[in-house]
Amino acid sequence: MTRLSVNINKIATLRNARGGNIPDVQKVAVDCEQFGAQGITVHPRPDERHIRFSDVELLKPLVTTEFNIEGYPSESFMELVTKVKPHQVTLVPDPPEALTSSEGWDTLKHHKFLVEVIGEFQRHGIRTSIFVGTDPRLVEGAAKTGTNRVELYTEPYATNYPADSAAAIKPFVEAAIVARDAGLELNAGHDLNLENLRYMKLQIPWLKEVSIGHALIADALYYGLQNTIQMYLRQLRDNF
Ligand code: PXP
Repeated sequence: MTRLSVNINKIATLRNARGGNIPDVQKVAVDCEQFGAQGITVHPRPDERHIRFSDVELLKPLVTTEFNIEGYPSESFMELVTKVKPHQVTLVPDPPEALTSSEGWDTLKHHKFLVEVIGEFQRHGIRTSIFVGTDPRLVEGAAKTGTNRVELYTEPYATNYPADSAAAIKPFVEAAIVARDAGLELNAGHDLNLENLRYMKLQIPWLKEVSIGHALIADALYYGLQNTIQMYLRQLRDNF
């Protein structure tokens, strides 16, 4: 089974545009779960431009599925995550001012740093996942950090999918096999949507989790949040 974790950062972006509490991020998280989401993802950034650190603390007791906090492991991020103790932390290498994550870790160059921070999260009982591209050397490098999972950075797949789906998925299947052979569980995320999700699931059926934000929230403007979550879940079914 591949779980759907809904990234609710965009909900916080909308709320922050007006300064009040509409839409209510906490309520949306609970509703996503009621509508079928199997996890909630948040990505607090140091400038708190979407999800705030206080949101993360408020969400922890409300999320009854899987709570996933992603971000760059700065001191303040590590303090927050080890205090909140989500089920999973996903580490991304992007600098604080980045618009969105745009690459995976160089797991060879940052080996020592990753070993340290991963060890710290695991000592607190938090499962770790690290964001990686498809370079097999870097996927093997991820396994050597001691992480439980990797999350494949799927932007290149999403970009290349419309022109040539088979060519687009090829490096991802290869990386997924390297990860599996190295004993790593596998997540995926970035730019996944209703067009490209099913094909990825069919080609990599052992995917544990996808984390989807931008396209899902945009689709919800047309179909409504409940319908949209059901549509994404249908793409992830083992049998169609
Ligand atoms: N995974 C990671 C590590 C991300 O940084 C993001 C974007 O915040 C996502 C998944 C979700 O990407 P998208 O919003 O394009 O669905």
